[in-house]
Amino acid sequence: MTLSIILGTRPEIIKMSPVIRECQRSGIDYFILHTGQHYSYNMDRVFFEELKLPEAKYNLEVGSGAHGEQTGKMLAGIEKVLMKEKPEAVLVQGDTNTVLAGALAAVKLGIKVGHVEAGLRSYDRRMPEEINRVMADHCSDILFAPTEKCKETLLGEGIPESRIHVTGNTIVDAVYQNLKLAKEKNTLEELDIKPKNYILVTAHRQENVDDPVRFANLLKGVEELGEEFNIPVIYPIHPRSKKRVQEFRIKTDGSIRFIDPVEFLDFLNLESSARLVLTDSGGVQEETCILGVPCVTLRDNTERPETIDVGSNMLSGTEPEMMMECAHRMLEKEKDWINPFGDGKAAQRIVKGMRS
Ligand code: UD1
Ligand code: UDP
Repeated sequence: MTLSIILGTRPEIIKMSPVIRECQRSGIDYFILHTGQHYSYNMDRVFFEELKLPEAKYNLEVGSGAHGEQTGKMLAGIEKVLMKEKPEAVLVQGDTNTVLAGALAAVKLGIKVGHVEAGLRSYDRRMPEEINRVMADHCSDILFAPTEKCKETLLGEGIPESRIHVTGNTIVDAVYQNLKLAKEKNTLEELDIKPKNYILVTAHRQENVDDPVRFANLLKGVEELGEEFNIPVIYPIHPRSKKRVQEFRIKTDGSIRFIDPVEFLDFLNLESSARLVLTDSGGVQEETCILGVPCVTLRDNTERPETIDVGSNMLSGTEPEMMMECAHRMLEKEKDWINPFGDGKAAQRIVKGMRS
């Protein structure tokens, strides 16, 4: 079988890394098609180097832009490559514009599409990711659902059971494959912070950071939490969010330590030793759940309800008062939840599923 793995952003590179390794191990004829949606060194190349991934055969260098423009350029570029290479199948992962373009280009050419991380729903259509998820799932021939709950959602939308495989989430594979290596790094020492004595923050979601009032509120809530617990707050800031802080001239009181986005191993270290994580990231909600670290999600909904069900995560929105209440409640809890995202063998099941 010839397979094209289409990716373009930080989380796709990280979550596809176990699948790429499995393709290499099992001798599948595959190539990587990178859309270039992410292109800054610390959002893209650093992960190829750190995770020792093979070079992409194609990089479309589409870059940033409005949704229609960015997705349209990807669609045209992917179509050209697929027409030339004629793979038997393509694999996309997650909910970005890259995923929508990849699935749509392939299905229109009659190429079999596999969607990794299928069946997630926030039911919030203001999120660009929600539109991408629904579209990608309904374009796909094989749906790799991370959990039974995701499978139920897909069945409820009329997708035949024969096309759905419950595999677990490849982020578990990625965490298990990399945690030991991460622990060998001196991430905390370099930042002069102590285990269980800092708060880690990430926020980059369009609906949070592109709204000046909401983003300013969120940052105020983060500052208040740092003060309440009297511990450092570390925020590796996504380029979208950095741009917005400058553009909106949001004033902070200097207590949040903004640092550049870090490598995956450094981020795993920061997560696993944090007292508390505040985030609006999808992947970070999952990783904290897997690592046994309490999480407060700075959103009003989540497409990862499994984390709420097992008790590793609470939804606070972006009002400082609610953020404070959720932080206290998460810190008071036992951290004995069970990881609902699988056994770390998702990539094997996915590659097997594509072959069958
Ligand atoms: C995208 C995904 C989002 C995902 C996130 C992962 C969509 C609709 N959104 O959001 O689901 O959670 O990636 O991080 O696909 N920029 C850089 N360098 C880069 C990439 C982006 O400076 O390498 C800046 C640019 O100013 C750009 C902005 O970030 O305009 C947003 O980038 P974009 O890829 O459009 O969306 P993300 O916010 O990264
Ligand atoms: N991550 C990273 N460095 C950082 C912040 C995040 O390597 O500075 C990793 C994190 O471990 C997770 C992924 O990036 O695997 C999450 O990506 P992001 O939050 O950008 O996207 P989302 O998951 O929300 O789509």
